[in-house]
Amino acid sequence: MVASSWPSLDELDAVRNKVADMSGADVRDVRVVVSPYRICPLGAHIDHQGGTVTAMTINMGILLGFVPSLDAQVILRSGQLHGEVKFRVDEVQHPKKIPEEPDWACYPRGALYALQSKGHHLTKGITGFICGSEEHSSGLSSSAAVGIAYLLALETANCKIIGPEDNIELDRLIENEYLHLKNGILDQSAILLSKYGYLTWMDCKTRKYDIANFSELQKCQQSEGQETYKILLAFSGLKEPLMRNSGYNTRVSECREAAETLLDASGNGSLEPLLCNVDPDSFEAHKSILKPNLAKRALHYFSENKRVKEGLKAWASGNLDDFGKLISASGLSSIENYECGCKEMIDLYEILLKAPGVFGARFSGAGFRGCCLALVDADLTDKAAAFVKQEYQKVQPELASKLPQDRLVLICEPGDSAHVI
Ligand code: GLA
Repeated sequence: MVASSWPSLDELDAVRNKVADMSGADVRDVRVVVSPYRICPLGAHIDHQGGTVTAMTINMGILLGFVPSLDAQVILRSGQLHGEVKFRVDEVQHPKKIPEEPDWACYPRGALYALQSKGHHLTKGITGFICGSEEHSSGLSSSAAVGIAYLLALETANCKIIGPEDNIELDRLIENEYLHLKNGILDQSAILLSKYGYLTWMDCKTRKYDIANFSELQKCQQSEGQETYKILLAFSGLKEPLMRNSGYNTRVSECREAAETLLDASGNGSLEPLLCNVDPDSFEAHKSILKPNLAKRALHYFSENKRVKEGLKAWASGNLDDFGKLISASGLSSIENYECGCKEMIDLYEILLKAPGVFGARFSGAGFRGCCLALVDADLTDKAAAFVKQEYQKVQPELASKLPQDRLVLICEPGDSAHVI
């Protein structure tokens, strides 16, 4: 099977040279963490409620070059963000105070916080250089990719061997405890568990996961380097980080409130108020007592779980038409039931649905900003891209003009899991 096309040797060399310049180390001693961005075709907004999600990584993301320091000092520079971050790994880290303005130091410090919280004693810092694609990160889970990059670098520098399941939990601590975002474990699970060319699925309640088999026909085409589909990303031009948007945490609270009401009504009030603890029949029996907005959130949860199940079957039989229809239905449920997103993202979603060769489309990530994703027939990607660019420029000329013309739409391929080279 062919491997992910990212990162190229030139990209790796550029990062290695930066770190060698910063540290005086031999370029051959520089290690690089490759931490890809992710998409979630089905299973949106249900990870924080213990639902089942699907995901895959793409062939772009974060590179973090580093060498271990001789002592506890961490020194970091970024290809996109200004300034130098400096701290020591023997400084005890505490969660950020809200509403402190987040800066880029919060991810390496958050990674140290997570490792310290789990009792890992670090003695060596790192000198590192991190880079990613700033205008393309939003909606693709760049924050989890960054958090994982720092975790893997600090662990490698300190000779700690920590498996993907434990790193999923460590990244959860960065986001939920250090940064106070109430998100689920979809992003980091996708980044740590994905395998090139497969669809990863995870039950976020039990944390059981697997990679979903592709149909024999598609496996065969893939091994010959022919893709039947590509991933099209269409960027809105809106870039606000998720943790600055209170909408995400509000929706999580609403889901919990719905779960609490349904559990009480069905005599299960002692269970944790998560929608995964509510039996689908209890939802049907008691949904009329929910406030209208909470009934919609719960409807999104139960219908999305169902779409994931059906989607895994469609994927396994290589039926991209059905898989795509489910993606678009998931997108619609995010708009109508989960009521996230915004006008600009909805415009993009609707344009994608009309584009040639699109099997299905939805918001990528939480949908409050960033990009929409579509699965597209590999032979029609150029036509689809041209259509989306032209139509988005018509409806959102100002936002579209904020992005370079050749960056409004990207055609990507599946990627691999995060690793250290
Ligand atoms: C963001 C969150 C994830 C998940 C998605 C929506 O990416 O970080 O935990 O909830 O939104 O599916």
